[in-house]
Amino acid sequence: MNIVPVASGDIDAQRWIRWLDGEVFTDAEGPLSGAGPVTFHGSHWFIGWDGDKPVCYAGWRPHFDSTELHFRQPLGFLYRGGVLECARGHGYQKELIRVREEGMRAQGIATSITYTDPLSIGSMKNLMACGYEPYLADKTTALYSMDAVYRFVHWRKDL
Ligand SMILES: CC(C)(COP(=O)(O)OP(=O)(O)OC[C@H]1O[C@@H](n2cnc3c(N)ncnc32)[C@H](O)[C@@H]1OP(=O)(O)O)[C@@H](O)C(=O)NCCC(=O)NCCS
Repeated sequence: MNIVPVASGDIDAQRWIRWLDGEVFTDAEGPLSGAGPVTFHGSHWFIGWDGDKPVCYAGWRPHFDSTELHFRQPLGFLYRGGVLECARGHGYQKELIRVREEGMRAQGIATSITYTDPLSIGSMKNLMACGYEPYLADKTTALYSMDAVYRFVHWRKDL
């Protein structure tokens, strides 16, 4: 599997991201359900190719939590991603986590964060294997509301 970054002007790659997203998520109103470039909010996307077949994808973007605002130092937020069912079990999500961390480091970002659904055992195992630890978010560190604190497990790693 070969992971390739998506260039902001690459319309074909952006279509593949939307197709992959539709295959792995069932939320019709997800963040990628609209039109236009997928690189909104400064997000960076990657596609994992098995030969000429796209099998996984993921994105990250800078995130400012309210404790960081005064120095404008963004955190890196592992935004969204997935692996096609037929390609699971090969460690692809871990590879996608690492490539996004490299992108964060290249931009001088010192901390990576994300959240998971508490039912997403695969994601949680992969995050732990990559060195992430769960944290109890509060109103300054929640991604993005207190509602998320109750619904999702929050994760953090110093890069
Ligand atoms: C989450 C996801 C990306 C993981 O795909 P993957 O990289 O192939 O990971 P795996 O399926 O190998 O799962 C990782 C580990 O969790 C384990 N696991 C997965 N589902 C499990 C379950 N229901 N119960 C127990 N263990 C489970 C796997 O056995 C594996 O264990 P190992 O590391 O000891 O081998 C993929 O399942 C997916 O795309 N899901 C839908 C979208 C999603 O949830 N995206 C992530 C949030 S944005």
